[in-house]
Amino acid sequence: MIFLKNDVQMKKEAFRPAVHFSPSKHWINDPNGLVYYKGEYHLFYQYHPHSTIWGPMHWGHAVSTDLNTWEELPIALYPDELGQIFSGSAVVDWQNTSGFQTGEEAVLVAVFTHHGEDNEKQSIAYSNDRGRTWVKYKGNPVISNPGIKDFRDPKVFWHEESSKWIMSLACGDHIQFYGSPNLKDWNYLSSFGKAHGAHGGVWECPDLIFLDVEGEKFKKWVLIVSINPGGPNGGSAIQYFTGDFDGTVFVTDQKKEEEKWADWGRDFYAAVTWSGTEQPIWIGWMNNWQYANQTPTDNFRGSMSIPRKLFLENKRGDYQLIQKPVFSGELEKHLVFKEEQGTFCLENPLVVKVTAAPFTVQLKMKQIDSPTFTVRLKSESSQLDIVIDQSAHQVRIDRTKSGLVEFSEQFPSIDVMPIDVFQEAFLLVDRASIELFVNEGRFVMTDLFYSVDSIEAVEFRASSNQAEYEKLVIQSIRP
Ligand code: FRU
Repeated sequence: MIFLKNDVQMKKEAFRPAVHFSPSKHWINDPNGLVYYKGEYHLFYQYHPHSTIWGPMHWGHAVSTDLNTWEELPIALYPDELGQIFSGSAVVDWQNTSGFQTGEEAVLVAVFTHHGEDNEKQSIAYSNDRGRTWVKYKGNPVISNPGIKDFRDPKVFWHEESSKWIMSLACGDHIQFYGSPNLKDWNYLSSFGKAHGAHGGVWECPDLIFLDVEGEKFKKWVLIVSINPGGPNGGSAIQYFTGDFDGTVFVTDQKKEEEKWADWGRDFYAAVTWSGTEQPIWIGWMNNWQYANQTPTDNFRGSMSIPRKLFLENKRGDYQLIQKPVFSGELEKHLVFKEEQGTFCLENPLVVKVTAAPFTVQLKMKQIDSPTFTVRLKSESSQLDIVIDQSAHQVRIDRTKSGLVEFSEQFPSIDVMPIDVFQEAFLLVDRASIELFVNEGRFVMTDLFYSVDSIEAVEFRASSNQAEYEKLVIQSIRP
């Protein structure tokens, strides 16, 4: 481990993200209770307020008006005699179906898992003051444990066609759906997934969403399922299933063995969508359970991804998720480099100096004679490589030499993402993460990295011949 500067503490706080949410101190994992109400995006999250290691779970709370800058609020939900407060969701009960509303404000209802020593069950709490204070329902739990060990992470939405609330619930190796008229009384509807998709780990944090299909007049249902372990590059990851939902049953149009992954990096987990936005937007925990408790930060541990808008693309009956980063808000951008045309080749790499993360890179290729080219994030003592391998139809992120990697055996890795033909990429680099959106968000990778020195250059190298780009823009961001 090399520390070029003396102040190790300073260095560790230097891993604090600039344009991603992280708690001022202590541990976080999954985003919870994502709900939009009266101009505020609420972000609750799994929180351990006494340590930077996972422990008794609370719901921490932050709000944002632009999805990029966040204000931390007091803890929303504390553990109680029924157990810890595990992951879940929140909705605005506009029609007061629950009867919890007391004043003028619509009531927000949180639906979460009580993780007790005996078992897991689902409970609710409500807020009549725009999410600032919460009252747990006296009749908790609202769904008791039916004898399933992993029985958690309720995600609820209002299903207009059948006039009821629908809950998706993770049950170890499948998802169960429940229905309710009032968020208090729930009926089992159906199950999905024992015979479908990836099963290398426990299914967690589901979300059933209705998505626009680009260029089509119809929409499609997509069931999001986190899985841990069993991801394509090891550990935690998110798979999805496209299909139809009739208010009772979800039917996928995928073959049983088919696996669809939302993000091929190692560090995008437990993502779910905001309730109450016009277009689906989700956010994930930027981490992986393989090493989440060991990442080399000091006062805090864990952060969220950039929020992403979701779409679907119809590829002759095969539906693919598209993610576009929500990235504007109050952030000030400064142009570092812009060229409408240029080349780089083996003997002559293009080196663009940058002042330090956060920054973005937008690269659109014209012609690539070189079968492989690399975008390298270079600091004095380390490098992180994004390798675009045309002949293998892959993009790989190599973080084996990216700085601090030895805190966990599982961390140093070369992560592989299959793609069709590389056209363009958008890269968001923060102080300890990269999020790579290839071909307008059709192929996505999220990876953490801990470079001890600041990134000082972005280098473009071709393995042979010449690579010609038609656009290269690098912008630094001042939060
Ligand atoms: C996913 C998860 C959830 C659970 C929570 C506990 O990362 O394991 O299934 O509710 O974290 O903190």
